[in-house]
Amino acid sequence: MTALLSPSAGRVALVGAGPGDAELITLKGARLLGQADAVVYDNLVGQGILELARPDAERVFVGKQAGHHTLPQEDICRLLVDLARAGKFVVRLKGGDPFVFGRGGEEIEALQAAGIPVEIVPGVTAALGAAAAFGFPLTHRDHAQSCVFVTGHLKDHSVELDWPALARPGQTLVIYMGVTGLDIISARLQAAGLPGGTPAALVYRATWPNQKIHRGTLATLPAVARDNQVKPPTLIVIGSVVGLMREDAAGAA
Ligand SMILES: C[S@@+](CC[C@H](N)C(=O)[O-])C[C@H]1O[C@@H](n2cnc3c(N)ncnc32)[C@H](O)[C@@H]1O
Repeated sequence: MTALLSPSAGRVALVGAGPGDAELITLKGARLLGQADAVVYDNLVGQGILELARPDAERVFVGKQAGHHTLPQEDICRLLVDLARAGKFVVRLKGGDPFVFGRGGEEIEALQAAGIPVEIVPGVTAALGAAAAFGFPLTHRDHAQSCVFVTGHLKDHSVELDWPALARPGQTLVIYMGVTGLDIISARLQAAGLPGGTPAALVYRATWPNQKIHRGTLATLPAVARDNQVKPPTLIVIGSVVGLMREDAAGAA
């Protein structure tokens, strides 16, 4: 169904906030944030980024709060539609990039179905933030000719991935949302042929003031995670590029 837009109809911009550091949002994202009537945001939006919004802009938090779950995706979609229908310019601010494990696709579908104009502003995804923050390349002519971003958390909470493809040599794996499935991920990758001694790291809150990296190997990473009580938001990085990390990288462990 296509809705007719009144001259006062609102619109939505899906803006990538970047991995955490407020200076890593794009100029376009910052400009639109400064123009928004309403900002809808969640947990992974870094400190200081909301300060780029107008002081009088409505701010709506839709992330997880202690003891509570995230607002269901349908409710977020409805909220965006309602705010835009009220004539507002809405910035939907998402950590990293809206289209990298960000459910941006679902929000766009809902907005388009409601006839609301929507634009997308990309952001620096967490993998790129982690590589920059700790000084390891994701590709390198001598180490990795490809880099794969994969989710370790499927819709039904299982971790069913194409293990033989992920275990191929000469690539870097960056696994989002993989901490709870780390035992399975480590075991399956080794069973598929990736050597247990492959360098690996857990990167917690890359580019945030409390960022941390824990290094190990594919085989030792589950124990490293347990010993250090590693929690989300954390990326798992697997590949020999991890061995190229700058030793002076802030917070390196
Ligand atoms: C729902 S995904 C969102 C990804 C986001 N759209 C992006 O492009 O980075 C959430 C997961 O991203 C990863 N993540 C996001 N920001 C991170 C950061 N600053 N440091 C480490 N991992 C991060 C974690 O694996 C976290 O569980």
